Amino acid sequence: MTDTELRDSTVSIASPDVGQAELRRIQAVLGSGQLSGGDEVDAFGAEFADYCGVDHGVPTTNGTTALHAALAALEIGPGDTVVTTPFSFIATANAIRHAGAEVLFADIDPETYNLGPAAVEAAIADTADGVDAILAVHLYGCPAPVEALQAIADRNDAVLIEDCAQAHGATYRGDPVGSFGAAGCFSFYPTKNMTTGEGGMVVTDDDDVAHRLRSFIDHGRSPDGGYEQLGHNFRMTDICAAVGRVQLGKLDDFVAARRAHAAEFDAVLRGSRLRPPVEPDGTHHAYHQYTVACDDRDGLRSHLADHGVDSAVYYPTPIHEQPPYDDVTASLPVAERAARDVLSIPVHPDLTSRDVRAIRLALAEYTA
Ligand SMILES: Cc1ncc(COP(=O)(O)O)c(C=O)c1O
Repeated sequence: MTDTELRDSTVSIASPDVGQAELRRIQAVLGSGQLSGGDEVDAFGAEFADYCGVDHGVPTTNGTTALHAALAALEIGPGDTVVTTPFSFIATANAIRHAGAEVLFADIDPETYNLGPAAVEAAIADTADGVDAILAVHLYGCPAPVEALQAIADRNDAVLIEDCAQAHGATYRGDPVGSFGAAGCFSFYPTKNMTTGEGGMVVTDDDDVAHRLRSFIDHGRSPDGGYEQLGHNFRMTDICAAVGRVQLGKLDDFVAARRAHAAEFDAVLRGSRLRPPVEPDGTHHAYHQYTVACDDRDGLRSHLADHGVDSAVYYPTPIHEQPPYDDVTASLPVAERAARDVLSIPVHPDLTSRDVRAIRLALAEYTA
């Protein structure tokens, strides 16, 4: 194949990998007549918890409701403050506000784009009453520094919560993300490392938290059939859970493919003027995104488009600069700089060797 031919089609930024196995499971659920509240949801929760090495997995309607439910089950609400990153999908901060708590933003690390422990300590030191939780995002699939963040949480009598929406299959010192904090929250949106269409999951090792979670996502229901708290309907359907069980079986292969693609792009970008993603020592990056930093992002974007390669900016505006957060006056220069510089290129498991070659070629030409 010639280089000109490689430029003919577009390589998309995301492509959910679902197939016949998922279809068969959906048909089986539809045929069973048990579309919600059935065995698929319980089985998916148990299997996902097992994958994360924790005792409980509670499926939810999406990643945002997983975060909201985790906060509620950890009894974080009105009067409480949660410190988090301004450089994430807005759902991370929205969930804190939906739970009734205050959001405190701390700046990020310039290399990993994850919450920086020193910035978290500084932000906490500036508060009158401290914080009640640290909500860390494993951005782009890169594990956040959970040990340092847990130590800060312990010193401040706060809980650590992990937003793992982009990091299924990532590990920190060999252990899966989601297994470090008091709760780990996942999303199964179609662009994620595995999907159920829409869907989410909270994992936890704590029996009491799991109990409160199961109740909260089911209108506050108690095991005896009564209602013990105010809750929501955040329940996953059996159709989604059936898809999730098949996808979970493929997750390690999906992540291995993402990592193989990332290694191909790293080889082109090492030592170039683009700053490729970093994989901190002791971590296993899941490469939900392959995100480069570039002083001329618009130029890189149009160069890639000319080569038939899609790209996307996650995130062009940090959360504290979004209109719903107008009341936040913080200056967060590292996040603001990242929002100007980052660009994500396709790294998903569906890329063909032809796609990978097209991306490598485009990157090589740009950095030549
Ligand atoms: C970091 C992060 N947190 C939370 C969410 C929310 O997940 P969902 O879209 O399933 O509600 C997402 C999804 O885009 C995300 O990327």
